Amino acid sequence: MKRIPEPELMNDPLQAQAYAAADFDLPHAMFIRLFQETFPDILDNACVLDLGCGPGDITFRFARAYPGCRVHGVDGSEAMLAHARQALAAQQAMQGRVMFMKKILQVTEPSLKRYDIIISNSLLHHLSDPAVLWNTVRSCAASGARVFIMDLKRPESIGAAQQLTDAYAAGEPEILRRDFYNSLLAAFTTGEIRQQLISAGLAGFAVHQAGDRHVVVSGRIEF
Ligand SMILES: C[S@@+](CC[C@H](N)C(=O)[O-])C[C@H]1O[C@@H](n2cnc3c(N)ncnc32)[C@H](O)[C@@H]1O
Repeated sequence: MKRIPEPELMNDPLQAQAYAAADFDLPHAMFIRLFQETFPDILDNACVLDLGCGPGDITFRFARAYPGCRVHGVDGSEAMLAHARQALAAQQAMQGRVMFMKKILQVTEPSLKRYDIIISNSLLHHLSDPAVLWNTVRSCAASGARVFIMDLKRPESIGAAQQLTDAYAAGEPEILRRDFYNSLLAAFTTGEIRQQLISAGLAGFAVHQAGDRHVVVSGRIEF
């Protein structure tokens, strides 16, 4: 099935509200668990960058899992960041350790500092040019940085995308069901992601399927 891209930024306040209120406990807990299994030796005071952080659920989960780390979330949508900042204001223990920044990531080198750990969940499938993610990873990584990216994997057919939507989003509001379905159609295949990594000079990164709808990319940047 051919990829059908969706808009990059989630700027619609209703869409951001529905996303922020949704229960992503299973995939987001899986994100943290797989990160811990992939990189069991994390420095306690690492600087972490969460690309396309949305309302920050993974940003906060990561900060809780690694209490010595500072975690910076970046997103281009003010509607999403408003939810992230609201959640930060309600969690005193996170203040000073977690920070959110507005930035629209582009293919040109972003002016962000260098990080020990770069994570991202469900940003890649939003990008019309996937090189945006891989260029950002390269230019924001400190030497030895651990990189861990999770995203949806494009199903084989429209029917398979519909089945996954029925299986995982049946009880959700219409706006979330629509977004999940569109995201599946916009996602990349593992083969396409491997090609992206080769083009980006990141061919050493591992690409694994996780469960029935996710793909995980991980590796270290050395220079
Ligand atoms: C599906 S959400 C994922 C949010 C969060 N990572 C999570 O897992 O809950 C994708 C996010 O990427 C952001 N995004 C998409 N393209 C972007 C870009 N070029 N620059 C910055 N943020 C972008 C969207 O605004 C949206 O908040």
